[in-house]
Amino acid sequence: MIILVVANQKGGVGKTTTTLNLAASLAATGRRILLLDIDSQANLTTGLGSKKTFEETTITDVLLEDASLKSLIQKKPEFNFDVIPGSPDLISAELEMARVSDPTSILKGKLNQLAHEYDYCLIDSPPSLGMLSVSALRAADKIIIPLQCEHFSVEGLASMQRTISEINEATSSTLKIDGILRTMFDQEKERARQISEKLEQALKEQVFSTIIPRCDLLAEAPSEGKPIMHIDPEAKGTLAYFALAGEIIMRFENKDVA
Ligand SMILES: Nc1ncnc2c1ncn2[C@@H]1O[C@H](COP(=O)(O)OP(=O)(O)OP(=O)(O)O)[C@@H](O)[C@H]1O
Ligand SMILES: [Mg+2]
Repeated sequence: MIILVVANQKGGVGKTTTTLNLAASLAATGRRILLLDIDSQANLTTGLGSKKTFEETTITDVLLEDASLKSLIQKKPEFNFDVIPGSPDLISAELEMARVSDPTSILKGKLNQLAHEYDYCLIDSPPSLGMLSVSALRAADKIIIPLQCEHFSVEGLASMQRTISEINEATSSTLKIDGILRTMFDQEKERARQISEKLEQALKEQVFSTIIPRCDLLAEAPSEGKPIMHIDPEAKGTLAYFALAGEIIMRFENKDVA
């Protein structure tokens, strides 16, 4: 199982949209996909037509070592993937996690138990840098940073890079940014084109050649509770996330799209 973490401490950059639609595209290739929502906003969860769970047992209990991930898996046969929903109680999870030892290593351990059941686990993380995001980053095999081609995005990227270096130092790991994804791209905006080109030149190895265009349907799809490909298989947003899935398969599995 390859654990893909979609992260950026900056808010509203397309993390959730990317996690959800990339998962649908990878699932369409027959790969076994698990989605994990560890954001208390639970946008991923509601964007798939599920309710935010107010259940007795939630992902928070997993992070506190009181439950297994497996017990929380919801099947989504209509989309060919499984999902572990987010929950509003994740807000308190960060505080409570402080009472267990090495709290940010728990998620990685729990995911290991599912290693043979899925080809990919995609994790949608919150727009902050607390224990939840750090737990996700520590569990990652590959880290993907979505960003808009705007001035402040480049600063956000630098702070993600710093965060990852700090985690590496504290835990003797070798995490790095494996993919930078340009999102909500507006070809008409010269400034966006310039920043996009600069990113490509400066960070050639990491920047995906796929660019996600601004696409109204991508923003509307969550209200229908579906990934965009299940609404319009030919929308430009659908095609872009298919292209991204192809690039991910080539880069992270070293093979052509199957
Ligand atoms: N390519 C796109 N075209 C148009 N709208 C988009 C696109 N990608 C995302 N959006 C919209 O932009 C907003 C922010 O996207 P999204 O929720 O995916 O970001 P996020 O990084 O997960 O946000 P948060 O940090 O709050 O979790 C949403 O309303 C989403 O529908
Ligand atoms: Mg989000």
